[in-house]
Amino acid sequence: MSETAKFRAAALPHLRRGRLAKGAPIPLPLTMAAIFHAPGDATGFDQYGRFSNPTWDAVEHMLAHLEDAPCVAFPSGMAAISAVFFGLLKSGDRILLPSDGYHTTRALAERFLKSFGVAYDVRPTSTFLDGGFDGYRLAFVETPANPGLDICDITAVAEAAHKASAILVVDNTTMTPFGQRPLDLGADIVVAADTKAPNGHSDVLFGHVASRNADIIAAVTDWRETSGAIPGPFEAWLVHRGLETLDVRFDRMCSSAEVLARRLKDHPAISGLRFPGLESDPSHNLGHAQMERFGFLISFVLASEDKAEDFINNCALMQAATSFGGVHTSAERRAKRGDAVPPGFVRLSVGCEPVEELWQAIEASLDGISG
Ligand SMILES: Cc1ncc(COP(=O)(O)O)c(C=O)c1O
Repeated sequence: MSETAKFRAAALPHLRRGRLAKGAPIPLPLTMAAIFHAPGDATGFDQYGRFSNPTWDAVEHMLAHLEDAPCVAFPSGMAAISAVFFGLLKSGDRILLPSDGYHTTRALAERFLKSFGVAYDVRPTSTFLDGGFDGYRLAFVETPANPGLDICDITAVAEAAHKASAILVVDNTTMTPFGQRPLDLGADIVVAADTKAPNGHSDVLFGHVASRNADIIAAVTDWRETSGAIPGPFEAWLVHRGLETLDVRFDRMCSSAEVLARRLKDHPAISGLRFPGLESDPSHNLGHAQMERFGFLISFVLASEDKAEDFINNCALMQAATSFGGVHTSAERRAKRGDAVPPGFVRLSVGCEPVEELWQAIEASLDGISG
């Protein structure tokens, strides 16, 4: 972890310190309120739950500290992505999306943006630079892409996109601000599903938009207030609590993933393993240059759909679940969600269990499907 990341992690649990009145609770109070006392002039304080809420403010303060940029909270990762698209795009615009990233982002473009006159094209993450960005208003990358874990050079994409007058959005969901810092690498906007590692306990959906451009922040804030795509205060409170331990959880998850990826790669039941932390991985050199950690996701292929299902379902320390980034190790055979991957393709999200115990359970399950 870099010195600045350590500084951010250390200051995170103390962000509210300077604002505490004598006798105020140290943990964040939860403010469940649709209305606030609002006599007289209607400016400069909380008035209505669609406009603002003190619990959102606290979680946005934490996220802004982590991103080193103003942040706007949303009720899910997709709500954050929608806010960027609907808040910034207009009819006649053209955007570029990853062909191998989270499928719902493409579905949003296909099923909704298109009918509002916004066209889109797709490109693989690993060759995202090829072809340039002329004619695009916005380029959107996910790196590492979920679920194939290919990556692209954020700095180079940002430079080329800006030359073509396009803005660059990076979905940083697979990495968190502790693992990768797209705004520092030149991106204009970060979107993320805090549903994953930032909350970390798999009990909440949440998302945020981060940007150092005040016009962008104003546009997505306006979208939130006007569309009503607002986070619930309780969800914000849970994410605030989750963020307090993100550094510890993320560190454990990434360290364990590095150990497990090496061992999994050598297992005879496994082929096509991808993890940017392995020196042999096509993403390794670029990943080493632009990522602070290599993440907690590993993908690989087992011989068949049945073997992949048996591997996941028979592992004592693994949950069969979609999503990733929780304290519990989980895995999913992604073909069943419609991703363009082989039937036995598994996306493994490494959790916080002690790594040797986790490996024993994984190895036992792999041995069970071998032969
Ligand atoms: C990379 C990525 N971005 C965005 C999302 C959407 O997040 P949410 O489910 O919170 O809407 C997901 C969900 O899996 C994702 O994997």
